[in-house]
Amino acid sequence: MCGIIGYVGPTGTDVTTILLDGLARLEYRGYDSAGIAVLTTAGRLELHRRAGKLANLVTMLKNGSRPAPGTLGIGHTRWATHGRPDDTNAHPHPDCTGLLTVVHNGIVENYAELRQELMLAGHTFRSETDTEVLSHLIESYYFGEAQHDLEMSVRLALRRITGSYAIAVVSQEHPDLLIGARCNGPLIVGLGEHEQFLASDIPAILKHTRRIIILDEGEIAALRPDSVSITTLDGIVVKREPIVVDWDAEAAEKGGYPHFVLKEIYEQPQALRRALLGRIRDGQLHLAELTRMQQEGLLNNIQRIIIVACGTSYHAGLIAKYAIEQWARIPVEAVTAAEFRYSDPIVGPETLCIAVTQSGETADTLVGIRQAREHGAPVISITNVVASAITRLSDAVLYLQAGPEIGVVATKTFVTSVSVLSMLGLYLGQLRGRIPAAPMGEFLSALERLPDQIQHILDKASHSDDAIEPLAQHMAHSQSMMFIGRGVGYPTALEGALKLKEISYIHAEGFPAGELKHGSIALLDPETPLIAIATASHVYEKVVSNMQEVRARDARVIAIASEGDEGIRRHADDVLYVPATLEVFSPLLAIIPLQLFAYHTAVARGCNVDQPRNLAKSVTVE
Ligand code: F6R
Repeated sequence: MCGIIGYVGPTGTDVTTILLDGLARLEYRGYDSAGIAVLTTAGRLELHRRAGKLANLVTMLKNGSRPAPGTLGIGHTRWATHGRPDDTNAHPHPDCTGLLTVVHNGIVENYAELRQELMLAGHTFRSETDTEVLSHLIESYYFGEAQHDLEMSVRLALRRITGSYAIAVVSQEHPDLLIGARCNGPLIVGLGEHEQFLASDIPAILKHTRRIIILDEGEIAALRPDSVSITTLDGIVVKREPIVVDWDAEAAEKGGYPHFVLKEIYEQPQALRRALLGRIRDGQLHLAELTRMQQEGLLNNIQRIIIVACGTSYHAGLIAKYAIEQWARIPVEAVTAAEFRYSDPIVGPETLCIAVTQSGETADTLVGIRQAREHGAPVISITNVVASAITRLSDAVLYLQAGPEIGVVATKTFVTSVSVLSMLGLYLGQLRGRIPAAPMGEFLSALERLPDQIQHILDKASHSDDAIEPLAQHMAHSQSMMFIGRGVGYPTALEGALKLKEISYIHAEGFPAGELKHGSIALLDPETPLIAIATASHVYEKVVSNMQEVRARDARVIAIASEGDEGIRRHADDVLYVPATLEVFSPLLAIIPLQLFAYHTAVARGCNVDQPRNLAKSVTVE
């Protein structure tokens, strides 16, 4: 998704470096062009845009056109929605005069009618983007008869917009003014000493400041070197204290690993410990975040639970269905948010809706949850990003505490989502009096053992004689792979397949193992390897039967199995072992070799692991 960076500060600052550095830290969001606008000390607004990776823009600037130092600038990485990803459609987008320019993340839904209106009024459009209507709309108020000031012009323009936006605006006529605004798109303000920053998210400006103000929906921020004022679209002044972010700048870097994805796979024991921290104490479960909901009786009459999520977060939700139903005996449906939002869902005060979204900004999840709220459903959200949009739609928020996840594909946020959902399931089970103390103790200790067990898998994988990397290298030529599992092994298979296709671009599908023979088995041949989730479970024997069916078709079978299961070797060509745990927690271990397998396969194929093609870290458009 698009990334925004903005800067305003003292005369003679190397604004270009600040913007390019910020954009580099936003690369993980996914993009296909990049651009900057810098107001130089000589008073000229210089614009530079390039299709493709940020490196293209950097090279262009190195070859002679780098803007001189200045006071003010905005930068953008664009993930195309309206118009091709080329130089012309790259942001920033100037108005007709070239005196003001805009960067935007989101979608202007009524852009076609606004464009028509503005063209009739004499404005000339140069790009195919929806964003450009914003530049011309602001221009129409700023240079129009009423001669509104820049902030008022932005406000008036935004009142005409339907859709979503996070924007940054600068004008050649105001060397000390940077304007930002948001509605359903992320935007934060970073407070510095005689300088201020705007950004889509925290890592982009962490190097410069830790004092952050999170803008709320429909707010406009006017940043000057020594002040920041926030108002609503209606002009009402907003007072908001900054939060101080304690993220380590190192934590947002690769920390010695060749890729963020690998670093984040290896961070999972730590991330999981953080997710459990304070929530399991003295053998008891404490979800203080839910106390208020409980006191208000919002959890007393829950008849049904719907988990709304996308992609990997949806897979976490599918796993949680088993856990919550087992412990709380409440029927659970996990639904992809894009389907949920258009399904006219039957929800009400007795339906607990759980949003799972690591970014907290996924457009479909936000809209689905907003609808559920409108029907009176209580909402618990599970997210990794503090104060993200989903948190404002929730009665309670359970943070993943996974730390920043920079790799586009979800790894540590998957493992932490599953564990936080598991704790929620245990909480609801306890609330309903369905889990006696002894089993509860057993569940909590099993959860607490998981970080060490994941560490064990990772330590083993680091040894030179480990099987995962050579196996991945061997399989890297495959055109297609299949993943099967039963029970919680099924969503694990889905997630293993998703990881593989996302980063290695090998076609991969996950199936419920018993479904294979109803059609998909026709796809198998000796060139199509199959990975079976065959960890200890009540359906273990059934999975083994399905593996035999596959082997009979000469397909190569790789099993993910529990340590100690030597017998599985008779049914598989290769076995990747994980420690034994309770069946309900087995996905948290089985997924680790699958993540590593996908990673090594992608590296062997020379793929861009951290920023796979066509993908974005936070999908803020429908
Ligand atoms: C997969 C992946 C995506 C996200 C999905 C939802 O590796 O990252 O499938 O899981 O886009 O994102 P969130 O959790 O931010 O709502």
